[in-house]
Amino acid sequence: MGLNKKYETGILWQDTQHQQLIELMEKLSDSNAKEADPKMFTYTTAFLAMYVTHHFNLEEQYMETYGYPDLKLHIAEHHKYIDIIKKFRRENTQFSAEGSAFLEENILKWILDHIMENDQKLGAFIRIEERKRILAEET
Ligand SMILES: [Fe+2]
Ligand SMILES: [Fe+2]
Repeated sequence: MGLNKKYETGILWQDTQHQQLIELMEKLSDSNAKEADPKMFTYTTAFLAMYVTHHFNLEEQYMETYGYPDLKLHIAEHHKYIDIIKKFRRENTQFSAEGSAFLEENILKWILDHIMENDQKLGAFIRIEERKRILAEET
């Protein structure tokens, strides 16, 4: 299953990682639609905590390497999500149907909004910078 076009940044590693997040969102959404599943809930929160740290770090490395002008704002957004996820995990160590719904309806949705807004801007910037570098190597 390919990444929905509206989420694409055009950067392969970024799109691949976003795809994983979207698949997670879909699985959680399916499970919440039937009867919220404690295993799926635990899996989602653990995956999310691991995923965002790794994924955000990689994006931030690219921002630094290419001198991204909106670096501060974008990193601040990442930190906001990390804090939200941490707080959520602290307050939801046990499964609950409400917690599972909140995860789907708020946390994962916010991250999708972040992809649509901030990550697509970053992706467009990286594409331009990478093209410049390729052209510079050819001449
Ligand atoms: Fe990001
Ligand atoms: Fe991202």
